[in-house]
Amino acid sequence: MERKDLGITFRKGKLRFYDCDLHDLINKFPTPLYLYSEKALIQNAEEFQVAANSIGHDSLVCFALKANPNRSILKTLAKKGLGGDVVSKGELLQALEAGIPASKIVFSGVGKQLSEIELALQKNILSINIESLDELCSINDIAKKFGRTANVAFRLNPNVNAVTHKHISTGSGLHKFGMERDEIISAIRQKELWTHCRLVGLSVHIGSQLRDLTATEAALKVISELAQDIAMPLDFIDVGGGLGVSYQGEKVASTQDYMKAVAKSVTAKNFKRIIFEPGRKIAASSGLFVTKVIRTKSCLNSNFIIVDGGMNDFLRPSMYGAQHQIFPSKKSSNLKKYSIVGPVCETADCFARDLPFPELERDDFLVLAHAGAYGRSMASNYNLRSFPQEVLINEKGELLNVSPT
Ligand code: LLP
Repeated sequence: MERKDLGITFRKGKLRFYDCDLHDLINKFPTPLYLYSEKALIQNAEEFQVAANSIGHDSLVCFALKANPNRSILKTLAKKGLGGDVVSKGELLQALEAGIPASKIVFSGVGKQLSEIELALQKNILSINIESLDELCSINDIAKKFGRTANVAFRLNPNVNAVTHKHISTGSGLHKFGMERDEIISAIRQKELWTHCRLVGLSVHIGSQLRDLTATEAALKVISELAQDIAMPLDFIDVGGGLGVSYQGEKVASTQDYMKAVAKSVTAKNFKRIIFEPGRKIAASSGLFVTKVIRTKSCLNSNFIIVDGGMNDFLRPSMYGAQHQIFPSKKSSNLKKYSIVGPVCETADCFARDLPFPELERDDFLVLAHAGAYGRSMASNYNLRSFPQEVLINEKGELLNVSPT
C-alpha cells in the first residue's frame, strides 16, 4: 500500500509522507490532524503555472481559497506569484494578510453582502465577479458613495451539464450561479448601471472535481462567443476552477489536456489574459488527514476500526460519498473487511465501508490521501468536538504547527 506519486511510502516498516516519518509526527502532535507538504504544494502550483503559460496567452492563477485558506499555505502560494479567488470578507482579509496583492484577487459568490462589497472596493481588488443585476446595482451605488470606480466581471451561467457530484455542479439552469448571456448583454447596454463600474472581464465556473472536459469545452465556447458578441476590450476571461484529481487512481483529465481545451475553445481575441481559479488541483494532493485508532469492534456482520477523526473533521466522505484512499500505519498481508468510522453520533460518520484492511489496534494510525483541499476548510465542531490541528512539512523538512488556520 504505497502511492509514490503522492509521496506516500513505507520505509523500514514505517509509513512516510515525503520526508516525514509519520510515526514521529503522531508522537509529536495530537490527532486527528492535517499534514501538508510544502514541497508538494509548490510542485502542484508550478506545474499549473507552467501549463497555463504554455497556451499562448498571458495568465494569472488565482487559488480558490475555499479549498484551503491556511495562512502558511497561502503565503507559500503568494510567494510563487499566485493570486486568490475569494468568496467572503474572511477569505479576502486572509488572502491579503498572507501577502496576496489586491491586484491579484477576484471575488466570487452569489450572496456578497454590502459590507463585503465595500471592503472589496476599499482594497481595490482586481475584480468583483458579479452574479446578478441586483449585485451590479449595489456595487454601482456603493462605488458612487465612495467616489470610486469598481472593476467588475460578469459570471456567465453557460447552461451546460457538468458531470460530477450533484452538490458541486454549478453551470446549468438549475443552479443559482451566474447570469444568462442575454441578461449580461442587456445589462451592458444600460448606461445608468455603469456610472461607477467598469467591465473588466467575463468569468465562468461550471463545477468541481470534473474528470472529463466535455462540459468545460462547451462552457468555454459559450463564454468566448459572448466575449466576441460584446466586442469590447476586456482585461481578462476567467475560466474558473474545477479540474479534478484522481482520488482512487481513476482516469482524470490532466492539466495539459485541460489547457489544450482552454486554448482550443477560447478563440475570442478581445481580452488580455486568462485567469484560472483552481483549488483542488493545487491543494488536494499536498495534504493528508491523519487519524489514530481508538479501538476496534465487531457487531453482527461488520468489523469496525474506530478512529479519533470524525466527519466533523473531514466531511467529504460523508457529504459527497467521496472515497479517499486510506493507508494503514502497519503493513500486513492478512486482510479482513473493516468499516473505518469516527466517533461522531451519525451513521454517515464513515470513511470507508467494508474495506480490505490489516488488523490495527489502539494507537496505530491511518492516513487519508488527497485531504489538502476541502478538508480542514470544511471542518466544524459538531458534537462540540475540537477542530483538527494543521501541521506543515516545510521545504527544510521541519514539522511546523500551522494551526489555527
Ligand atoms: N471558482 C469558483 C467560483 C468556485 O466556486 C470554486 C469551487 C472554484 C473556483 C474552485 O474549484 P476547484 O478547482 O477546487 O474544483 N466542497 C466540495 C467542492 C466545492 C467547490 C466549490 N466551488 C468538495 O469537497 O468536493
